[in-house]
Amino acid sequence: MEKLRTTYLGLPVSSPIIVSSSSLTSTSDRLKEAEDSGAGAVVLKSLFEEQINYYSSALTATESYPEAEDYIAYYTRSKSVDEYLGLIRTAKENLGIPVIPSINCLSSGGWVDFAKQIASAGADAIEVNVFFLPVTSKETSADAEKLYFSLIEKLTKTINIPISIKLGPRFSNILYMIDQFYKRGAKGVVLFNRFYEPDIDINNMTIVPASVFSTESELRYVLRWISMASAQNIKIDIAASTGVHSGNDVVKCLLAGADAVQVCSVLYNNGIDHIRKMNKQVAEWMDKKGFKHIEDFRGRLNYLNFEKPTVFERTQFMKYFSSHE
Ligand SMILES: Cc1cc2nc3c(=O)[nH]c(=O)nc-3n(C[C@H](O)[C@H](O)[C@H](O)COP(=O)(O)O)c2cc1C
Repeated sequence: MEKLRTTYLGLPVSSPIIVSSSSLTSTSDRLKEAEDSGAGAVVLKSLFEEQINYYSSALTATESYPEAEDYIAYYTRSKSVDEYLGLIRTAKENLGIPVIPSINCLSSGGWVDFAKQIASAGADAIEVNVFFLPVTSKETSADAEKLYFSLIEKLTKTINIPISIKLGPRFSNILYMIDQFYKRGAKGVVLFNRFYEPDIDINNMTIVPASVFSTESELRYVLRWISMASAQNIKIDIAASTGVHSGNDVVKCLLAGADAVQVCSVLYNNGIDHIRKMNKQVAEWMDKKGFKHIEDFRGRLNYLNFEKPTVFERTQFMKYFSSHE
């Protein structure tokens, strides 16, 4: 659909709807299905630093020779990386839409060489799925933030394809973080990742995983930050992620100032070809409102452009208590 054409990370995309990093983007067949269903781009399943380290240590646990351990660690790492590079190459051969690999970083060091290989395999951009979980009270917030900054500095110095940072939703000042990413050369941010969360089963008194899928109501938190971030005069692209479940949700994100949206849970629940329905809903809304291009309405309701921006600032319920007594 011509009217849905836009750009993300400087790349032309046929739709603002991008398939998020997940198992939905881990095989060539599924990637092709995403393109055929009208996805504007695909973000490949992340290669996890943790995963590689885990496989290496599981294999080396039975070995007692340090040289063997080094070799196995090297081999398993190379194998995972090779398979991932293979997926990128095949995707680039088979698809016309941008292919964006994703790397999951826990430490700020080891990923730079891998990023170089990703770029050489033909990736159009890289998404960095980064989460440093502080596990001690001795580490300050500033220390944790520095890890993000140093990772981005290393990556932007090493590769010249666009880099976007997929962030978790909690920081003291998300806007400051985005500005710092931009100053270090990042071209985009994804607001936000939705992490695995533990829950507690009180009958069996054990820890269980909470649902991995989002609900549509989770989009509201994302909308606030997109509205605020897109009004900051930071020339960075913003992709909405978490709770985008329908074409109407896509419209909301674009009105708030997003450049693109990423979808995952809704495709697990309805199939990858649900993108077709979402694109249609966006196009129909545009027709109804008389918009020919996404740029005609993107950001219309962001923090700067909405006539009462304080609605985005309101975090407390003071005003609402009176009506719910
Ligand atoms: C089964 C599953 C696997 C996922 N794997 C990844 C991953 O490898 N890398 C990543 O950055 N995010 C991963 N995610 C997070 C999604 O990309 C997405 O950010 C999150 O689900 C929120 O979007 P949604 O509300 O559209 O589901 C995964 C999510 C699910 C449900």
